[in-house]
Amino acid sequence: MPTTIISLILLLQWSQGTAGASDAEQEPKILWRQISGSATMNCTHNKGINYNQMYWYRQRPGETMRLIVFTSTYAEADFGDVDKNKFDVHKKVPEFGSLTVKHLNSNDSGIYFCSVSEHSMAKAVECCTKT
Ligand SMILES: *[C@@H]1O[C@H](CO)[C@@H](O)[C@H](O)[C@H]1NC(C)=O
Ligand SMILES: *[C@@H]1O[C@H](CO)[C@@H](O)[C@H](O)[C@H]1NC(C)=O
Repeated sequence: MPTTIISLILLLQWSQGTAGASDAEQEPKILWRQISGSATMNCTHNKGINYNQMYWYRQRPGETMRLIVFTSTYAEADFGDVDKNKFDVHKKVPEFGSLTVKHLNSNDSGIYFCSVSEHSMAKAVECCTKT
């Protein structure tokens, strides 16, 4: 079987909460990896220590952008219904975070985005009990 190489592309980054801001930086911009390997992507920003939340998204070819994980400096990473065994995340300080995609397969090829946002108290409000 020929060795298959997949690409993970980091193209865009943006910040939530501030109009037009684009001062989050992802490194590297493009990664080529072999199937079954792993790939680590870094995201840094200089928006200040209040921006201690970081979201990682992925857009696969032909699909819409989907959230992989929500990370923050103050809580456990939240993968939602995404398989957390596929990923490692690091989020220790506000200005830096990383995402590692493990056990790469052809489905992991795509564009990865990081987004940072400010921790707002409104987020802490839990809503609604069903009766
Ligand atoms: C990502 O961050 C880690 C930890 O700081 C560092 O060792 C690594 O070189 C960085 N990778 C890139 C591509 O910047
Ligand atoms: C890729 O994703 C499709 C659809 O989600 C799935 O059926 C398939 O098994 C996946 N392939 C691999 C190698 O994980």
